[in-house]
Amino acid sequence: MPNEIDAAPEGFTLTNQGRTFTPFATEPVLYKPLAGVNWPPTAYDPDSHLLYICANDRIGGASREAENSPPTHTESWMGGTFNLTNIPARGLFVAMDLTTHKIKWSQQWQYSCSAGSIVTGGGLIIHGRNDGRVVALDKDSGNKLWEFQTDAGVNGTASTFMHEGNQYIAIISAGSLYSTGKHGDSVWLFSLNGEMEPLVEASATSPAAPASLRPTAVAPVNVVEPIAGYTANLDSGRQIYTTLCTTCHGPTGEGGHQGGVPLIDKELNLGHIMTTATFGRNTMPGFATAYTREQLQDVGTFIVEEIMPTAKQ
Ligand code: HEC
Repeated sequence: MPNEIDAAPEGFTLTNQGRTFTPFATEPVLYKPLAGVNWPPTAYDPDSHLLYICANDRIGGASREAENSPPTHTESWMGGTFNLTNIPARGLFVAMDLTTHKIKWSQQWQYSCSAGSIVTGGGLIIHGRNDGRVVALDKDSGNKLWEFQTDAGVNGTASTFMHEGNQYIAIISAGSLYSTGKHGDSVWLFSLNGEMEPLVEASATSPAAPASLRPTAVAPVNVVEPIAGYTANLDSGRQIYTTLCTTCHGPTGEGGHQGGVPLIDKELNLGHIMTTATFGRNTMPGFATAYTREQLQDVGTFIVEEIMPTAKQ
């Protein structure tokens, strides 16, 4: 993974070639805070000594507030702002030879790598993609041998087992919090003698511009208006809030992880919430592919009617 930025994005001057430990001040500097091996499990092939690494490459930046002063040696300090650019992120899948530390082959995707992989005794790498595919690659070349389109992002790691003489692959298709894929809720079991056709056309879940390619650092050009005459379903809204938004905004909207700002003690209107939830903003991902406009209206209405008033009491 290149640790520096090879060419400055238009309008920026690079400091220190954007290397990972570039110091920053009140002026934002660009570097690669989100470049490296991703969390999902890596697969290792004991025969070839290849390690199959899921990695991401993304340019971002950081700046600090003017009033922050450095800590003394007995204190810690956290502050400043983490910025993302609208330069497209890419995912990388890399086979690295652990005996030489050299890359044997690698391939890049136009969205993040957010899934673990397994390598089978028969020489297949099985892994999932944000666009809903389960893919089998040749472990020596990385060439694609097979794929199957499911109905949601495939971000779990596959399992394989033998049953009555047949080898099976089991994998979950449900999307995930951090990837841009569609959300769903299904488990798939594949065998070599299976005959089922892909569930949906590949084009239906592989849009030309996946959400990860949409600009996130600029204010959304499009504004999502509430659907006139639609009565929001507060139970559905509560469910989406507690499964998704809570992580970053806290169970009662007080703010939380990943820089999620408080949603309380301010006036947020429904259209603003729906627009933000659809397109995302800065480090908040957009959920246009994960939820329908009705569902985003459900969660927006839940925030307006149940989260915001509680805080004012
Ligand atoms: C991965 C973390 C994350 C998740 C998940 C997340 N948000 Fe956010 N959200 C953020 C961050 C970070 C910001 C601040 C963005 C900025 O820099 O303006 C934000 C901002 C917002 C704002 C704008 C608040 C304001 O003051 O204008 C709204 C509204 C919002 N989020 C709604 C939602 C909803 C609804 C969901 C669930 C469907 C959700 N968010 C899920 C991280 C997240």
